[in-house]
Amino acid sequence: MSKFCILRFLCFKPNGKTFIITGASSGMGKATALKFANEGGNLILSGRDQSRGTQTLEEIRRIGGNAVFLAGDLKKMDYNKNLVELALENFGQLDGLVTNAGILGLGSITDLDPDLWEETFGVNVTSVFYLLKFAIPEMLKLPSASVVINASIAAFKSFPNHPAYCASKAALVSLAKQAAVEYGPTIRINCICPGPVDTPLIHASAVAFPDPAKAVENAGKNTLLQRLGTAEDIAKLSLFLISDEASWITGSVYTIDGGIMAKG
Ligand SMILES: NC(=O)c1ccc[n+]([C@@H]2O[C@H](COP(=O)([O-])OP(=O)(O)OC[C@H]3O[C@@H](n4cnc5c(N)ncnc54)[C@H](OP(=O)(O)O)[C@@H]3O)[C@@H](O)[C@H]2O)c1
Repeated sequence: MSKFCILRFLCFKPNGKTFIITGASSGMGKATALKFANEGGNLILSGRDQSRGTQTLEEIRRIGGNAVFLAGDLKKMDYNKNLVELALENFGQLDGLVTNAGILGLGSITDLDPDLWEETFGVNVTSVFYLLKFAIPEMLKLPSASVVINASIAAFKSFPNHPAYCASKAALVSLAKQAAVEYGPTIRINCICPGPVDTPLIHASAVAFPDPAKAVENAGKNTLLQRLGTAEDIAKLSLFLISDEASWITGSVYTIDGGIMAKG
């Protein structure tokens, strides 16, 4: 076995491994990118907004990290293929994914524009299928690889005017388990289900409630830990699950919600 291989097996953190992170221009994806970069991961970052993506890149470079940002729309199959190709061109291999991008697609079932339903499933679910489709053959070439799929407690709980969001997140939980069954033991695939986290998305989500500001405030107060989660809280869980420290964990679904689901 080469010295390089031995180092790979001894490496418990993402150090020197290559990951694609979607939704890295904002919120949890950005925090995850910074955390992985801090641990020495090589990163391919996805988002739509070039300037916010560039800002994430600049912050990563300031801490000495290695990352490439490619702006694009995850609903497009070829863009997902390009992300995988970029990982191979820049870093020679692909060790894992954090599929994190998501949109809300707000509206009640009777009012929701079918195009917005399609778009919500396109970004939240179909894009994950596309990325897995192109990434899995590359990850199977390695001794081990790891995927974290970001769903939501909305997979298990309803919210007013969130039918597309809740249904799409439930689909992700199912997709994660299915993929874990099909591609173990080489690829570990786990799902995280955050509760209310202080990112731009939660403020957009609150618009569906009669008093949006109060809804955000209450979302934090209603957790057992009496605060909103931070993007950093979620990044820490993703880092653990992607790392070899979670080497006996696959096909699992983790709520990370300040205890809100325990309240029922
Ligand atoms: N915040 C919460 O309370 C909460 C709770 C549970 C689960 N989640 C889930 O956590 C994930 C991250 O959410 P967040 O709260 O960090 O939200 P956020 O700050 O709004 O970030 C969403 C990210 O998704 C990207 N994105 C959206 N549509 C895209 C598309 N068509 N193509 C490529 N990228 C696209 C955005 O890119 P641009 O910014 O460049 O447009 C952005 O980087 C989402 O899946 C969300 O559903 C959030």
